[in-house]
Amino acid sequence: MPKRPPDFKKKEEKRRKDEDLFKVVDSTIDYTTFNNLMIVSRKLNLEEIFGSISSGKEAKIYPGKDSKGKFYAIKIFYVSTAQSKRAVQKYTKGDYRFEEAKTGNTRSLIELWTKKEFRNLREMYDAKVRVPEPYIFYKNILVMDFIGDNGIRAPLLRELPEDEITESMYLDILEQITKMVRGAKLVHGDLSEYNILVFDNLPYIIDVSQSTPLENENSIEMLRKDVENINRFFADRGIEVQETNSFLSNLLGDPNVHNGGRSKNSGSQQDYSEIK
Ligand SMILES: Nc1ncnc2c1ncn2[C@@H]1O[C@H](COP(=O)(O)OP(=O)(O)O)[C@@H](O)[C@H]1O
Ligand SMILES: [Mg+2]
Repeated sequence: MPKRPPDFKKKEEKRRKDEDLFKVVDSTIDYTTFNNLMIVSRKLNLEEIFGSISSGKEAKIYPGKDSKGKFYAIKIFYVSTAQSKRAVQKYTKGDYRFEEAKTGNTRSLIELWTKKEFRNLREMYDAKVRVPEPYIFYKNILVMDFIGDNGIRAPLLRELPEDEITESMYLDILEQITKMVRGAKLVHGDLSEYNILVFDNLPYIIDVSQSTPLENENSIEMLRKDVENINRFFADRGIEVQETNSFLSNLLGDPNVHNGGRSKNSGSQQDYSEIK
């Protein structure tokens, strides 16, 4: 029998530990992503990662649990779909925060996309918008607070029983939009009953990868669409909604709001928790 290298046992143990962590075999996770996931897991002391709770067009979400029993939502963006590539090009174009980004290969575009969602979450969270707290991002992986109980995610607004859909929830969502625009100077851009989780009766805004600065070319159009989506949802359920135009003019009152009163370089220079 060939002699084993001295660190064989150690390596073997580490491999088994990694596989234990990620018991659910997932064929959509490629080797590189798996290794990156292990780096993220070690950083956050994750002890378990569970099967995906959602596979969208651009990403999958996995619940993870750390050594203290805290749950995280791990969003892993697909690295190779043409769709994600198109989306990244569409949404990072014209966003001054990502102007210098290399837009060559898909993997780097997706990493940029991941960073963009992380940064949007961070800026919204800092502006007290009710979003999951973002923790770290690495390559195509983003980790945020898990909204739900014990790894069971909270229902989406669209999944909520009719009697739990109230006027105060509607007003709360308008308040989140207001904080996003006035505080974070960002427009969600894909807001609807599909991107709001309701936990303990409180709406949490999610899925902010496409969110863009208010000063972007199409931001007011995107904002209008967001408000219309929310108004449609609540109006269909018998709730008296504010007229879209009057909500928008109250919100944007100042005609100079297009540049949000913000200069190109006023963004925070902090390190956005990227693992180096
Ligand atoms: N922080 C979170 N906590 C719990 N569940 C989440 C969280 N983020 C996303 N999810 C679940 O995963 C789904 C997909 O996430 P989302 O960010 O909307 O990605 P996409 O719509 O692009 O696939 C959501 O509809 C929700 O069910
Ligand atoms: Mg979504």
